[in-house]
Amino acid sequence: MIRPYTSTDLGRLKEITRICFDGASIDRNIETLVGSIGGRDWVWRKLRHIDEDVRGSRAEGVFVWEENKNVEGYVTTRGDNQSKIGAIPNIAVDPKNQGCGIGRALLNHALEYLTQIGMQYAKIETLAQNEVGKYLYPDSGFIEVAQQIHYIKRLEPRDYER
Ligand SMILES: CC(C)(COP(=O)(O)OP(=O)(O)OC[C@H]1O[C@@H](n2cnc3c(N)ncnc32)[C@H](O)[C@@H]1OP(=O)(O)O)[C@@H](O)C(=O)NCCC(=O)NCCS
Repeated sequence: MIRPYTSTDLGRLKEITRICFDGASIDRNIETLVGSIGGRDWVWRKLRHIDEDVRGSRAEGVFVWEENKNVEGYVTTRGDNQSKIGAIPNIAVDPKNQGCGIGRALLNHALEYLTQIGMQYAKIETLAQNEVGKYLYPDSGFIEVAQQIHYIKRLEPRDYER
């Protein structure tokens, strides 16, 4: 069953995020390549995005999948009344319950919500390494608009002394 997010769900959302984005996030890729930065790991960085997703009135656009009183998945959305393009920043389902249609149901719910609040388009991003995203989003009617490459470089003082 899909229901609106409440603040008591935040801990569970973060737990699902930590489990789910281990193989599916830019923050994780960075840590794999260069190690932790500034004493912070990828989980800390990724969870900041979830805090942003539920901040203030944004929480109204967050929905969870509840089963037997447990939250097993979530989707976050963000409306933009000026551009009329809504966004779906994060979606995740606990691996124990993946493959049962929950992700697709959450995605559809997010699309319905964004339509209801007056958005004319919805945006979503996925990494090239994310096989589910690359299948599910086009299958749900999304069309590819761009591919982007993310780079990272260690900053050394000598780079600026030349
Ligand atoms: C993406 C995610 C939310 C999907 O949740 P889910 O509950 O497993 O999704 P569903 O069961 O609704 O499956 C959606 C479709 O993806 C398909 N799918 C599942 N695994 C797949 C894979 N490895 N490659 C391609 N398609 C796959 C399913 O067969 C299903 O298609 P169908 O309805 O035509 O049969 C979940 O996999 C997840 O949390 N992943 C980690 C976090 C993540 O990547 N989030 C998205 C970031 S862009």
